[in-house]
Amino acid sequence: MNLTDRVVVITGGAGGIGSALARRFAAEGAAAVVVADLDADAARAVTDGVGPVAHAAALDVTDEEQVRALVVDTERRYGRIDLFCANAGVTTSGGVEVDDAGWDRAWRVNVLSHVYAARAVLPAMLARGGGYLLHTCSAAGVLTAVGDAAYTTTKHAAVGFAEWLSVTYRDQGLRVSALCPQGVDTPMLAEGLAAGHLGARVIAASGAVLTPDQVADSVVVGLAEERFLILPHPEVAAYALRRAEDPDGWQAGLRKLVRRLRA
Ligand SMILES: NC(=O)c1ccc[n+]([C@@H]2O[C@H](COP(=O)([O-])OP(=O)(O)OC[C@H]3O[C@@H](n4cnc5c(N)ncnc54)[C@H](O)[C@@H]3O)[C@@H](O)[C@H]2O)c1
Repeated sequence: MNLTDRVVVITGGAGGIGSALARRFAAEGAAAVVVADLDADAARAVTDGVGPVAHAAALDVTDEEQVRALVVDTERRYGRIDLFCANAGVTTSGGVEVDDAGWDRAWRVNVLSHVYAARAVLPAMLARGGGYLLHTCSAAGVLTAVGDAAYTTTKHAAVGFAEWLSVTYRDQGLRVSALCPQGVDTPMLAEGLAAGHLGARVIAASGAVLTPDQVADSVVVGLAEERFLILPHPEVAAYALRRAEDPDGWQAGLRKLVRRLRA
């Protein structure tokens, strides 16, 4: 898929990766870019910067009614949705001790919101014979986010759901990509580093920390190639292969890195 004349929705569109996608999609010639975020003021600031093709919307992705209303409103305004980017995400920065409310929030934002989006957009997309879903997952969804049990678990679930959609609906014209970056220089990672969280330190020590614009570059290429896994950090493919071939060796290497960072 190329972005020319496309109608695009981006959840978490006010954040680091989401706002970079909005700017890049507009630069690629999208007809409309809907920037939806819990932080409505920040979403408006993004659309002010992007220009007239962009439209800001307040949205809590964990509320199915709000997701459905956003889809209805976008289809009414622009006639269709070509690409829905389920990009909002949250971390917990904790392990098994994180309380149920923390696990529930991670589950709702990182996984259930993707289900709500698919439920809302699929009928019209399938009726038109096609459409595109981009799910921002994470390298944590194919590997492990050290220091964050709920993030690891829910991002694995998000990759699983995206794969299920792709297998189930590809023959009806639906295309699905799972975006799985490692470290990206956004408020999410910056806050983790500032707080000294082990997970953020492991990410920073594991490879290049990309800019959101570099991630947007990879997304444009990945969408053009209609690739399921979009890996802005190509080394993640090698890590995933090593993990699949030798899980014990892979985990031993990760534990060694953690011991080094803790020393
Ligand atoms: N930064 C990284 O290193 C990194 C790496 C891999 C994957 N990711 C993923 O990329 C995506 C974007 O994250 P980012 O790094 O740009 O972080 P970010 O914190 O800059 O942006 C996340 C955005 O999501 C919004 N959001 C959170 N909860 C929401 C909700 N309930 N409803 C609507 N919007 C909500 C926030 O307001 C924020 O604008 C997330 O899914 C994240 O898990 C980030």
